[in-house]
Amino acid sequence: MTTHNMPDMDEQARSILRGNDRGGYTVPTAGLYPYQWNWDSAFAAWGFATFDVTRAWDEIETLFTGQWDNGMVPHILFHRPDPGYFPGPDVWGATGPVASSGISQPPVAASFARRIYDMDPEGSLSALKRLFPKMVAWHQWFMDWRLDRGAVCITHPWEAGRDNTPDWDGAMAGIDPTGVGEYKRRDTSHVDPAMRPTKYDYDRYIWLVQLGRRLGWDEAAMLEQNPFRVADPTMTFILLRAQRDLAILGQVLGEDVSSIEAAIEVLVVGAETLWNPELASYDARDVRSGQWAGCVSNASFLNWYAGIDHPGMEAQYDRIASLCKYPVPSHDPSSERFDAKRYWRGPTWAIINVLIGIGLEERGLTDRADALRKTTADLIREHGFAEYFDPMTGDAAGGGTFTWTAAVWLGWASPTRSEGAS
Ligand code: SER
Repeated sequence: MTTHNMPDMDEQARSILRGNDRGGYTVPTAGLYPYQWNWDSAFAAWGFATFDVTRAWDEIETLFTGQWDNGMVPHILFHRPDPGYFPGPDVWGATGPVASSGISQPPVAASFARRIYDMDPEGSLSALKRLFPKMVAWHQWFMDWRLDRGAVCITHPWEAGRDNTPDWDGAMAGIDPTGVGEYKRRDTSHVDPAMRPTKYDYDRYIWLVQLGRRLGWDEAAMLEQNPFRVADPTMTFILLRAQRDLAILGQVLGEDVSSIEAAIEVLVVGAETLWNPELASYDARDVRSGQWAGCVSNASFLNWYAGIDHPGMEAQYDRIASLCKYPVPSHDPSSERFDAKRYWRGPTWAIINVLIGIGLEERGLTDRADALRKTTADLIREHGFAEYFDPMTGDAAGGGTFTWTAAVWLGWASPTRSEGAS
């Protein structure tokens, strides 16, 4: 690899962020995802922060304009109508301050807020002060409504962000989508259907949206009546990490962080309820049936990012990494359910790689961290700023000119971010 073309890559990444900027918020990619997505937006903010800290904070502040009275921050904010996406606001029937979906997404915002603050403390302070209580309220919503034995549960596959991962196959099989009716998908007109979830999955996604709408998105009612409730490593590890980062930000602001520290204790215990001894890995747990998913996913390896070590996870990581050229695959390549190009059933995602890489680095597993960062950089340099990648060949998959892949490049993967690099 030569370094002379890296500034060009950096400039391409910046121009993707600028091109996807809709004024105060960024779309993940034009066409396929034409609105503000929750965790995409937090990654975007981090990318912007490498060249425009004010714009970075605007992104997060716009996200929080959609916060509900109960603290929940929706996974999509429909700021402006766009017929190119389904299901739109009319299907969700949610009633927050901004037209939105009725579910949330992995809360990475506080963790990126901490990184952005560290990049420019003075330029960040006023936005951080405004956002801090909102972040506390959002995290508390998870603690109030979504815990099972201390692990964080999702009520819809879209909530984990890992829509069609085999992690949910068991819980999805328990849903009978009779009566879901006719609907027209839009995603498959933007992207090769072989790279997207199947109709079997989509019927259940839409059925769950219809159920939530019928229940008025009332968390107590959903706790009782929603058949889909899965304790998820993505949510559990990411919220645990976010609470740790929020506690540090709170201390910077001179706030009382004792309730955040208490939440951290609960989540540490909860994370251990996701350890599947037979699989020798962190795993998803179907709360309704009590069954393990039996899946080693890329979210399994977020334990280090959450500040949790487990003997066995290093060997598990090495096994998975040895099975493909471009780790970390979203599902175990030795599993019969592995599908190299189908969204979260195999492809490698730069956004999960960076979170795993941060965790490996912090845990002192620096050889693995360095190798992961290098293969992720190679992947993006050789195959572009794609939504996700085939872990065997590196082929680009899903949407192109993707905001969060550009952000990961700028914030982590680019060799110009390395120590000593030009
Ligand atoms: N990821 C879902 C979609 O593809 C929604 O968040 O539309």
